[in-house]
Amino acid sequence: MNILGIETSCDETAVAVYGSERGLIANHVYTQIPLHQQYGGVVPEIASRDHIRKLLPLIQQTLSESHLSKNNIDGIAYTQGPGLIGALMVGASVAKGLAYSWNVPSLGIHHMEAHLMAVMLEEIKPEFPFLALLVSGGHTLLIHVRSLGQYEILGESLDDAVGEAFDKTAKLLGLPYPGGAALAKLAQQGDPKRFVFPRPMMGRSDLHFSFSGMKTFAANLIRETELTEKNKADIAASFEAAIISALLVKCQRALEQTHLKNLVIAGGVSANQLLRQRLQIIGEKNAVKIFYPQPAFCTDNAAMVAYTGWARMQKGQRDADFSIQAKPRWPMDVLTSQHD
Ligand code: KG4
Ligand code: ZN
Repeated sequence: MNILGIETSCDETAVAVYGSERGLIANHVYTQIPLHQQYGGVVPEIASRDHIRKLLPLIQQTLSESHLSKNNIDGIAYTQGPGLIGALMVGASVAKGLAYSWNVPSLGIHHMEAHLMAVMLEEIKPEFPFLALLVSGGHTLLIHVRSLGQYEILGESLDDAVGEAFDKTAKLLGLPYPGGAALAKLAQQGDPKRFVFPRPMMGRSDLHFSFSGMKTFAANLIRETELTEKNKADIAASFEAAIISALLVKCQRALEQTHLKNLVIAGGVSANQLLRQRLQIIGEKNAVKIFYPQPAFCTDNAAMVAYTGWARMQKGQRDADFSIQAKPRWPMDVLTSQHD
């Protein structure tokens, strides 16, 4: 069974094919980031229009480069939400249109579930159940994953997502959008102990996060400090250290509470090297195995959508009809009650 995956939830147009026999057969990502950079963030209307321009040619290119034709495709999986409504609608419309004309089933995929399942594209993958830390531009979630589609949300951010906090602080430091990776790079030259950031929620026994206090602290610091290269690097390093320690504390607590022995980190921020190094140490101390997708599968891509679609379609799941629906807001735990 070969599944074509389509991702258009934000500012990447991506297409991939995953098959039962050959695994990941094709994978293409076209990023719109340069289009949005001059505005300092994603402009939804520009995103939708560019997805329209790019998606069908990218599907054609993906199929022809991997010597596949429509006859080799047994189903189409597309990101149905959460994300930007216009951008999602482009992917959903193209997926439904192709499914109708090729006479194959389609299936709407949850973007965060796809991020979570990206780790299954690796050679070394976890067995269920596992704890997952999902950290992206829009979400910060700690999840007890019992199996595909069985998710218990243990903790989430009560305000900004971790990637959003990275991006906003990076912007104030004068770094181009999306600034998470650039901020992390700058932080490598800085002193993480120079500025003491607030660490909210640490005293609380629950597993929720809050990042807006750290973001505001960084904003004030940037306003009040002369922005020499050294000061900028020290702010970046201190900010990154505070964010990562908040993530680590809650991960460790979740591992203690659940007694799970496998931890998956996924989503764009899981590309962060310091986060990976520090988690590795926690893993070794607690006899917990850590799994993460390769960097290209941490940020938005369609390989994760094709894989998730393949896994669900193998179980017989399909969209009920050809109506085109996007779900800009779609809580992840709803999936558990949908398919059990
Ligand atoms: O998963 P993703 O590609 O898109 C969403 O679904 O949101 O995540 C993008 C986020 C951005 O906020 C970006 O700045 C952040 O991931 N990011 C990083 C790093 N690489 C990407 N944040 C911190 N350190 C990194 N190395
Ligand atoms: Zn994403």
